Amino acid sequence: MNNGKSILTTKIKASGKFYLLLAAFLVTAFSGFAQTRSEALLTDNWKFYRGKNDAAYNKSFNDKNWQTVSVPHDWAIAGPFDKEIDKQVVAIEQNGETKPTEKTGRTGALPYIGEGWYRKTFRISNLTKGKRVLIQFDGAMSEPRVYFNGKQVGEWNYGYNYFYIDVTDLALADADNVLAVHLNNRPQSSRWYPGAGLFRNVHLIVKDEISIDNWGVSITTPVVNEQLSKVNIKTKITGSNVRLVTQVLDAQGKEVVSETTEKIFGNEFEQNIAVANSKLWSPETPYLYTAVTRLYQGDVLKDEVKTRFGIRTISYQQGTGFSLNGVKRKFKGVCLHHDLGPLGAAINVAALKRQLTILKDMGCDAIRSSHNMPSPEQLELCDEMGFMFLAESFDEWAKPKVENGYHLYFDKDAEKDVVNLVRANRNHPCIVMWSAGNEVPDQWGAEGVKRAKWLQDLFHREDPTRPVTVGMDQVKNTMQSGFGALLDVPGLNYRTHLYEEAFEKFPQGFILGSETASTVSSRGVYKFPVVFAKNKQYNDLQCSSYDMECCDWSNLPDDDFVLQDDKPWVIGEFVWTGFDYLGEPTPYDDYWPSRSSYFGICDLAGIPKDRYYLYRSRWNKEEPTLHILPHWNWEGREGQTTPVFVYTNYDSAELFVNGKSQGIRKKNNETHQSRYRLMWMDVKYEPGTLKVVAYDSTGKVAAEEKVVTAGKPYQIVLNADRKMLTADGKDIAYVTVSVVDKNGCPCPTGTQQLKFNVKGQGTFKAVCNGDATSLEPFTKPTMKLFSGKLVVLVESAKQKGNIELAVTGSSLKGAKINLKAN
Ligand code: GAL
Repeated sequence: MNNGKSILTTKIKASGKFYLLLAAFLVTAFSGFAQTRSEALLTDNWKFYRGKNDAAYNKSFNDKNWQTVSVPHDWAIAGPFDKEIDKQVVAIEQNGETKPTEKTGRTGALPYIGEGWYRKTFRISNLTKGKRVLIQFDGAMSEPRVYFNGKQVGEWNYGYNYFYIDVTDLALADADNVLAVHLNNRPQSSRWYPGAGLFRNVHLIVKDEISIDNWGVSITTPVVNEQLSKVNIKTKITGSNVRLVTQVLDAQGKEVVSETTEKIFGNEFEQNIAVANSKLWSPETPYLYTAVTRLYQGDVLKDEVKTRFGIRTISYQQGTGFSLNGVKRKFKGVCLHHDLGPLGAAINVAALKRQLTILKDMGCDAIRSSHNMPSPEQLELCDEMGFMFLAESFDEWAKPKVENGYHLYFDKDAEKDVVNLVRANRNHPCIVMWSAGNEVPDQWGAEGVKRAKWLQDLFHREDPTRPVTVGMDQVKNTMQSGFGALLDVPGLNYRTHLYEEAFEKFPQGFILGSETASTVSSRGVYKFPVVFAKNKQYNDLQCSSYDMECCDWSNLPDDDFVLQDDKPWVIGEFVWTGFDYLGEPTPYDDYWPSRSSYFGICDLAGIPKDRYYLYRSRWNKEEPTLHILPHWNWEGREGQTTPVFVYTNYDSAELFVNGKSQGIRKKNNETHQSRYRLMWMDVKYEPGTLKVVAYDSTGKVAAEEKVVTAGKPYQIVLNADRKMLTADGKDIAYVTVSVVDKNGCPCPTGTQQLKFNVKGQGTFKAVCNGDATSLEPFTKPTMKLFSGKLVVLVESAKQKGNIELAVTGSSLKGAKINLKAN
């Protein structure tokens, strides 16, 4: 929502003159605007400096030679990749290692370590006496120390969390205000790429002294029924002699009901509002209501806040497991790290939306934010698009995994970190569970059990409506210590062999697969012979896409499917991971160059790997899936055994090589794989056409699919996920680039170096090919194809108009695509 009003004037220097710019700011979607409250994002014209500076907190500090950036910003994503960055000589205990070895690329080999400064100068045009000024950070990586007009006003250690600071006493009405933020990233502080800088939004909130508190509205739905639901709204306020009017709007913005109250309990109003003909929220029907809360003193409107919410019930019970709105279901979930591949950690709504669109098509209905607080934007999208959410907090408690990890702050900060996680997010219907931690080493020892209880009690105190889990890897130990028994939801990470025992020993009566699979693959890369292997390594530092390789501690997707399908008490799974992420290049932790993960169902560029279709064949109940692998360009393998797999929701299919039948395969219970995949293990390669014909349950032909041996690469082909962008300077089109032969047949092994040029009302933002070993920077307009593909990110300008992306490559016919900023 744009309130059409500006509360800021920003001074920028251009051609030697100062211009006063009246900037139009976006107001976040859920904070309404009244005369008395405004909320703006501080996005443009930040000054940034990478390094130490003891004077930069001063108001009068001269930052004119600093780089101008916009926020969200990740200072490290442009690289260059460097093997020496954050090189860790460690034994990764979670991986069962006992001897330290050199780990390069563990945190992405990008320059995130060290200090950084951000400064922003602005005016607050509507600041009058009796107003309060708050600055809210949705995350700042990391250890933010915040200065306002030369004074330190706040600090927070955990880079992933939200916090806000009241700067009223220092705010100036008719003069420049200077916000300065110091950040510090320590080496060996993470097990993955954390990003660096003001990677999420910064909000400026101006409101009346008599007003609704920040995060002061809490909405629950204690009685849910399609005929009539009870919506409980608690509103914390500051002020006296006030009255609260709450209006509930439906998804079209029409009033459903309105209620006024003067009854205040301490500083909190409580309303119980009946909503007739309730439309329930679920992943399939993500229906959202909005509560507009208005605070009046006499007839004067003092404040107004809009809060979106959903009406839904969740229950976790022995016997029925998990139910949403009274209907039993199992989580078809994925774990996601927070980075957005070539954009790094800098949050971007278009990028998040694209991820969720891809996952929706796969049939995924749940996300776990591993292993920290999700961005507000991701939660808003999950509310809107229909994903359930497991919101996690920590990867470490008091015992370390990495030398400078969260254990440094746990004792001092854990409570306030949990409080902010819950208070900032509790109204999102998508959140169905909190997670207090992931594989914390505190699973060992009596102190750890106490910490687990302490944290769970904190979550319950802050939110009595949602259960708490911990992703456990020390399952045997947690069976004995009582750690697992005390959790609301026992979450098992991998350990498929312990599910039965855990179900018997734990008293909850159900088990969650909080982390599953960790199967590794590189998109479009296939290795022979095709055999099941753990920790398999190849000279090219790639993994095979036959989906038969995993880690020591993990397993293949099919092993989880068996548990999900056969055990009514398993309440779902969260696959590690939906997308590849920066850092943690297992199984090549010890090898260079390798700087991003191989675990993703989709690669780092967001392009689906074969495994995507395996999950889709189970999870997407709306549309059929029929997918063949590998590609069929195996010059030199003529006559050699080249197995063919088909991922499909159909029960049986027949495979043909150049018209010759290779037999019919039917899913069967012989092995975990044969239950979920159709596999022809003895196919001999000959160039030509691989065709699969799928049969329905009555034996009738239901669908056909082909893979053809491609000729020489001839022409570049472009495909945009969206052609119409918003002219806001941050919308992004993802253009998939591939090469085809003269007949238009995709060339699956292409590695040509390509160049990108964007003209008009847009810019080249980044490029990514999904190759975990590539050291080409994401931010330069050239890159090699990987397995015949890559993705170019084109960002809209703030002006409306046409955008053209041209892609060229030597001895290839180039291509252009037209987009629009509107
Ligand atoms: C898990 C851990 C994840 C990731 C994964 C890789 O044990 O929770 O963060 O490291 O292993 O398989």
